[in-house]
Amino acid sequence: MTKLKSLLDTGSEDFRANTAHYRAKVAELHALRRSQRVGGPESARARHVKKGKILPRERVERLIDPGTPFLELGELAGLDKYDGVPPGAGIITGIGVIEGRHCMIIANDATVKGGTYFGMTCRKHVRAQRIAWANRLPVVTLVDSGGAFLPDQENIFPDEGQFGSIFHQQVGMSGDGVPQIAVVMGPCTAGGAYIPALCDEVVIVRGQGFMYLGGPELTFAATGEKVDNETLGGGKMHCSVSGVTDHLAEDDAHALAITREIVKHLGERPSPRKTPAPPRAPAYAVEEIYGIVSRDPKVPTENREIVARLVDGSDFHEFKPLYGDTLMTGWGRIHGHEVGILANTGVLFVEAALKATHFINLCVQRDIPLLFLADVNGFMVGREVEQMGIAKAGAKMITAMSSARVPKFTIITGGSYGAGYLAMLGRPFQPDAMFAWPTGRAAIMGPEQAASVLAQVRAQINGREGKTWTKEEEEAFKAPIRKEYEDFQGAYNFASNLWVDSVIEPCETRDVMALLLDITSRRPKVETHFGVFRM
Ligand code: COA
Repeated sequence: MTKLKSLLDTGSEDFRANTAHYRAKVAELHALRRSQRVGGPESARARHVKKGKILPRERVERLIDPGTPFLELGELAGLDKYDGVPPGAGIITGIGVIEGRHCMIIANDATVKGGTYFGMTCRKHVRAQRIAWANRLPVVTLVDSGGAFLPDQENIFPDEGQFGSIFHQQVGMSGDGVPQIAVVMGPCTAGGAYIPALCDEVVIVRGQGFMYLGGPELTFAATGEKVDNETLGGGKMHCSVSGVTDHLAEDDAHALAITREIVKHLGERPSPRKTPAPPRAPAYAVEEIYGIVSRDPKVPTENREIVARLVDGSDFHEFKPLYGDTLMTGWGRIHGHEVGILANTGVLFVEAALKATHFINLCVQRDIPLLFLADVNGFMVGREVEQMGIAKAGAKMITAMSSARVPKFTIITGGSYGAGYLAMLGRPFQPDAMFAWPTGRAAIMGPEQAASVLAQVRAQINGREGKTWTKEEEEAFKAPIRKEYEDFQGAYNFASNLWVDSVIEPCETRDVMALLLDITSRRPKVETHFGVFRM
């Protein structure tokens, strides 16, 4: 291992200005997180508590082992999408430790529109299940939901990836031996009732949790039968008559205690397949990343300096340092876990794509997880590189990256554009987890390029039609395109649409990766079968 040598000048004006710029971004992230953590409106929260119920975030806190971290996923999903709804889409998802075992926790927030599911709530639930499934994490679902948010039917009901996929995945996960526990802490109506019904063990709170395919009103309308909540779907009935639920709890706290007991009896926790080394802090302060990431999109970031601040002891065994130098590849450890890192240090050329292919192949051979740090304008264009076969070099990189079945992760640290975004393990290639830093951006191309391309197309059409336009008219045409691309490419838009699992700040990155590397080291190894490499 070689210690990466930092050339950073922490006394420079540039460092100071970058740091100030990044600190403002981090403050914005924390403000958004705070707004999400509050939940629904004051009145809804007060009513919730008055019913004797514990607020959802506190339920999660009481469920997990005291003092252990909770890695929240999709916390900004749905940001600014639904009127009067805070980010998070009315559901909390994340990984927490229960009785010493990592579990996926999914909790409805009944203070947000009765805990009903918007399209984004469905996608967030489905995503959490997929992460749990891939990593064989037990799933604990705290159910307190009115089911579908009826006005958003098209995003909830008909398609794959929506509400029905929750059930489909429950069955698939169960077949693969992933334990699933539901805690019915509120109403579970119609489709919602199938979530607990498809679980292995169900806890229900007396006088508070109800499960039925149709509530009392619907039952009366459909059959004329008059029946109260308790008789139709209460905890006592389901635990003693129907057998739909298994454990009757007296209140939320009791239900959470029973749930912890269930997790305790799930059997042996899988052991890691790898022995991590003792964790070490990087040799350089992680906070310095704030001063390294360029505040100006036109000025590239020195990403080698970032890698030096993410790996243990800043020790990095670089692979092919003299070849394909627009991509840095090599091995280091994060909190003791070995990881293969690919970090952009410029535009992707033929050599960089070939190096990436070779490197990914080695990591697969050695069963080492991959971490892509994406900050790339794309692949090089032009006659020379085309004649060198950049298309087949890029295809090789994509084949290697896409085929690799080792755990793989992406962090968008800077601007990640076009095919570069895709080749650096973009979302369509199903990373095990994907994050953006607050400065992360991604789009087909940058705002200025998009505005210019569309202006050129318009100018050609104008030419065909014998029209011309003034500089001012051209600018008036370009300005809204630029704005649209700027809004699109931001990390928070990606988080709102669940195109990334979360926005994390640089200083959290090592801890987040440590947790994920630990979890993925405990799942069974999957063989990789590479697709055809175009030679
Ligand atoms: N679709 C859309 N909005 C819904 C909704 C639904 N299924 N259920 C509740 N809401 C909205 C309410 O309109 C209200 O909105 P507001 O805050 O803008 O006023 C908010 O959610 C809270 O509802 P409220 O009834 O005041 O809360 P509550 O805690 O007393 O009861 C429920 C929550 C979920 C038990 C109750 O609203 C209910 O029974 N909803 C219908 C459930 C149902 O039949 N779902 C079938 C879906 S397949």
